[in-house]
Amino acid sequence: MSDDPFVQLKSAQREGWALFAPLEAVTTMPAARLIRHARVRPGQRVLDVGCGTGVAAITAARAGATVSALDLSPVLIAHGRKHAELAQVDIDFREGDIEALPYEDAAFDVVTSQFGHMFAPRPEVAVAQMLRVLKPGGTIAFSTWPPEHFVGQMFALVGKHVPPPPGAAPPPQWGDPNVVRQRLGDAVTDIQFERDVMVYPTLSPQHYRKGIEETLGPVVKLVAALQSEPQKLAAFRAELDGFLARYFEDNLVRQHYLMTRATKR
Ligand SMILES: C[S@@+](CC[C@H](N)C(=O)[O-])C[C@H]1O[C@@H](n2cnc3c(N)ncnc32)[C@H](O)[C@@H]1O
Repeated sequence: MSDDPFVQLKSAQREGWALFAPLEAVTTMPAARLIRHARVRPGQRVLDVGCGTGVAAITAARAGATVSALDLSPVLIAHGRKHAELAQVDIDFREGDIEALPYEDAAFDVVTSQFGHMFAPRPEVAVAQMLRVLKPGGTIAFSTWPPEHFVGQMFALVGKHVPPPPGAAPPPQWGDPNVVRQRLGDAVTDIQFERDVMVYPTLSPQHYRKGIEETLGPVVKLVAALQSEPQKLAAFRAELDGFLARYFEDNLVRQHYLMTRATKR
């Protein structure tokens, strides 16, 4: 095992995210919103990073784009390949790391990420890679969970109980438009933001919590890490239930998110 903390983090992420497939039921709707926000057109070359089971990639391919898709998790990529076959689209799926994209410079017209690149620990590396593989005049577009809403608060809580390695940026920072502007910097023009809400149908806050303890990578890893510390695990669950109640209504958990689109100079 490497002693590089980022290599260790990604190895844990690869394992934790492998269980994400059931949550594609929730990310399918925002995938359509993101592909529309990115203004994907037939014939364009599109790359989706942190693709998971391929919800955004398949949506882009069905819109007529030529699509490549990359994720840390080979398990999720295997799901994606099956989805693509069923949807009768051709997608070049690859296992890989957003911080070291295995594509030529300026290879794509559009680079997207739906709740994916926000988990790369070094935002400056992720953004440099996404912009490197994008053509000048091409579109970078992504969806992220803001720090002030439910999912962002949940990740802050996870980070409090199981701190990431020093130097790793908290994922929800990518949901703050000011941070997004600063990270994209002068490399882009015409930054546009749009907000939306995705919903997670569930019978009770407790059902939701049990669901994400079994599917949502960082929460899966946290619960595993706290198995020998039941008091800390109980404290995490109580705190999560506390703010979860504010977002649960009509058998839905409401998850606000931010979409960004910008043009590479
Ligand atoms: C919240 S899931 C979103 C999956 C998919 N985009 C969707 O909307 O259904 C986050 C995804 O990012 C991937 N991921 C996290 N860090 C990554 C990295 N450094 N390189 C590639 N993929 C990464 C995870 O494996 C996981 O599939």
